[in-house]
Amino acid sequence: MTVCSYVIVIVFFNIEEIKGITSYKNPCLGFKMFKEPQISKCRVMYLPKVDDVRGNLTFIEQNEHVPFEIKRIYYLYDVPGGESRGGHAHKELEQFIVAANGSFDVILDDGYNKERHHMNRSYYGLYLPNMIWRELDNFSSGSVCLVLASEVYDEDDYIRDYDKFYEIAQKNGQTYNKSIIHQNNSNTNIKVEKNGK
Ligand code: TYD
Repeated sequence: MTVCSYVIVIVFFNIEEIKGITSYKNPCLGFKMFKEPQISKCRVMYLPKVDDVRGNLTFIEQNEHVPFEIKRIYYLYDVPGGESRGGHAHKELEQFIVAANGSFDVILDDGYNKERHHMNRSYYGLYLPNMIWRELDNFSSGSVCLVLASEVYDEDDYIRDYDKFYEIAQKNGQTYNKSIIHQNNSNTNIKVEKNGK
């Protein structure tokens, strides 16, 4: 057996060893591969910051600083202490969240993995792909949550029932992958929690 064959055997052994992970067959390579966890596509992005003694300035351009065409902007403000927002996922919509003022937490969940991002800088944005259950809480007084969205408002794109979201996420076969912890930790204060479900 060649060295290459040994490597292939080891890879397959490791794949089969990890229980409960959905894999799929790569049509080109012809062997099983892991699907990228949806939560690993969530990214904290550093936005341009123009420092100025008169006050700082940050700008956002579509397809440059956010990876989609911006079709809608909305913002949450005057959130009473202790309140939470969100509590849904989107079938297709991509979003980009910025703490334009103050701070808040964004809790992300792809049905397998859970992360809590503390957003407290106006020059950081959090990119969310579709199929991420999100909740926002821990709003500071006077905070403003600015959201850029890839589509106009469409209630049909919402998934507001967690059980339904969870069922779809399982069918999509996302995977638990510890590597996301390292991938995101360099950017912000992120706490990673194992999904309770
Ligand atoms: P929703 O997205 O459910 O907010 P949250 O998840 O933070 O509670 O929106 C709340 C309400 O606002 C809902 O009735 C729909 C309406 N809405 C719009 O009309 N347009 C929009 O762009 C958004 C985001 C919400």
